[in-house]
Amino acid sequence: MFENLKIQPEDKIMALMSLFKADKRDTKIDLGVGVYKNNVGQTPIMDSVKKATAILNDTQKTKSYVGLSGNLGFIDKISELVLADVVDNNRIIGAQAPGGTGAFHQLLLLIRSMENENQIWISSPSWPNHAAILKHLGMQFSSYNYFDHKTCEVNFSRMMSDLEKMNYGDVLLLHGCCHNPTGANLNLEHWLELTKLCEKKNILPLIDLAYQGFGDGINEDVLGVQHMASKLPELCIGVSCSKNFGLYRERVGASLIVISDKENRKIAEDNLKSFNRVTFSFPPDYGASIVDIILRGDTPESMGLKKLWEKELNGMRDNMLELRKLLSASLRMTTNSNRFDFIERHKGMFSLMGLSITQVEELRKGFGIYMVGDSRINIAGLNKSQIEYFSSSVASVI
Ligand code: LMR
Repeated sequence: MFENLKIQPEDKIMALMSLFKADKRDTKIDLGVGVYKNNVGQTPIMDSVKKATAILNDTQKTKSYVGLSGNLGFIDKISELVLADVVDNNRIIGAQAPGGTGAFHQLLLLIRSMENENQIWISSPSWPNHAAILKHLGMQFSSYNYFDHKTCEVNFSRMMSDLEKMNYGDVLLLHGCCHNPTGANLNLEHWLELTKLCEKKNILPLIDLAYQGFGDGINEDVLGVQHMASKLPELCIGVSCSKNFGLYRERVGASLIVISDKENRKIAEDNLKSFNRVTFSFPPDYGASIVDIILRGDTPESMGLKKLWEKELNGMRDNMLELRKLLSASLRMTTNSNRFDFIERHKGMFSLMGLSITQVEELRKGFGIYMVGDSRINIAGLNKSQIEYFSSSVASVI
């Protein structure tokens, strides 16, 4: 039977992880998968997470099932973190999912089940797994221009002219902040324009929010999303806590829906539960309960954990911003040009370097520098002592 299996398409980011692992060179640098690393190359467990984990281990009395939507306290706190108070609480429906990918998948199941024959519009480029999941689910999608390879910024006018082609009821996939893979982001004006377009064409935004706090600030990063949520009757948000809580392997995520129609709220909520049931039954609880303890801070032991978490997250962001500054200055020197100045303007973990596949290969083979084939770098994969080596290597292949 198994001879009938087809070879599955390889995920570029996962393939790179294996190549890096197999490389024996001491000088190798991993700028591939989006995992935050500190200045000594470690991905530490945040102190706030360690403290909340200890509280959870001490106080949890059972490991019995929670429910198909998972920890509802966590859902409330995540909704508050993302949407603050811009929409009425009873317009928000949520369910836990295993990571941001899980949330994205579950929201797509929900959208597919509406049978609207709607197209999903995704940015070109986008996180490769977006298209992979859409294909896996047999869902139709089109791409819209997003990134200008010349300026390395968002080409908003081309984006808007592509989006004018959307039909009534289509779905618009947006990155909430810190665009992956480009690092070029929409500003608030852009979000305002997009909101108007969604209103005009009755478009359902589907927002992938995986890097809140990694761009401009914990609240600043969701101002665009909040604007949309305050103006539109409906939207979906897939939230990940992998990066901003450093809980990668615990798979912590939430599928959130903002809905205005009272009649349909219960149905939408039951749908989320039902899709969880048929996909994985109960969502994983451990990581979500840790996040819940941190954000709630309502016991003498957990009080202050939210502040500590904010401080740690702000520290990660400051470190990435400093790396961006240092890297673009160093590349200015080694290449004797301002070609890479955009790195300082980009936000979040990633930047598309604008190198060819051959140059990316040369960096990998000749210098042990690993970046995704489209030349996406994870800025947090660098540490300060590697900047000079990295920029002189780049200068030697361009
Ligand atoms: C990435 O883009 O590197 C991260 O989101 C990790 C992943 O699962 O691809």
